[in-house]
Amino acid sequence: MKQNIYDNPTFFEGYMKLRDSKMTYNDFLEQPAMKDALPDLKGKRVMDLGCGTGGLSKYCIEMGASAVVGVDISEKMISRALVENNDENIKYVCSPIEDLSYPIEPFDLIVSSLAIHYIEDYESLIRKLHTLLNPNGILIYSIEHPVVTARKDMRNWWKNENGERLHWALDHYREEGKREQHWYVDGVIKYHRTLQTLVNGLIGHGFMLERMLEPLSTKEGLNLMPDLKNEERRPSFLIIKSRKTD
Ligand SMILES: C[S@@+](CC[C@H](N)C(=O)[O-])C[C@H]1O[C@@H](n2cnc3c(N)ncnc32)[C@H](O)[C@@H]1O
Repeated sequence: MKQNIYDNPTFFEGYMKLRDSKMTYNDFLEQPAMKDALPDLKGKRVMDLGCGTGGLSKYCIEMGASAVVGVDISEKMISRALVENNDENIKYVCSPIEDLSYPIEPFDLIVSSLAIHYIEDYESLIRKLHTLLNPNGILIYSIEHPVVTARKDMRNWWKNENGERLHWALDHYREEGKREQHWYVDGVIKYHRTLQTLVNGLIGHGFMLERMLEPLSTKEGLNLMPDLKNEERRPSFLIIKSRKTD
């Protein structure tokens, strides 16, 4: 099932307010690590899957990419991308990732920031991404970490009567599939997968692992958002960089 929750007006308003605050886990954890994992982008053709408002697409152009195709299921996100991160070398396409077809010219790099945990069929996705890449092409994606997506009710921090965090509860790890949560609205659907499914799905479809990251906060983040110190106790995000081998 493809869900387009970002076009829900209540969700969109809440999400954009959060992102516009520039005080998010994306700003201090996920984006710095994604950028650190990027290869030399000079002259590269890049696809940005689940591009949202296009921040990463634009960054790739600024770093020298020759062309970027940003793909997102949400019309609202693509509309913002066209206003905030427009560039003559970026083409924004409003489409579900699942419906992408083989391009005339394949890509050197596919990036995807926090979108793949919304995709139900991981194996088909990786197979498709393999066809979209040039030989030796690179795929870098970030997702919510499996230790975050595993537990079904997603109430993970156990706290004492003073509200202090005692420990992080991990459960239902092996039970892969749909997770439903309240995030601005009820019924936001994500998909939990084990680490071995994520990694073997890549290896089994012609990719070689190059790097994995479980990012910690930047210094600035720790100063501005002290809760980010809890990333030492469990990671929020997982970033996997792999290369097409055959
Ligand atoms: C957490 S946001 C991240 C946006 C952007 N990558 C960023 O880091 O700012 C996830 C994005 O994935 C998009 N998305 C979710 N499911 C999708 C699908 N099936 N096909 C294309 N985009 C999808 C959403 O519309 C949303 O823009």
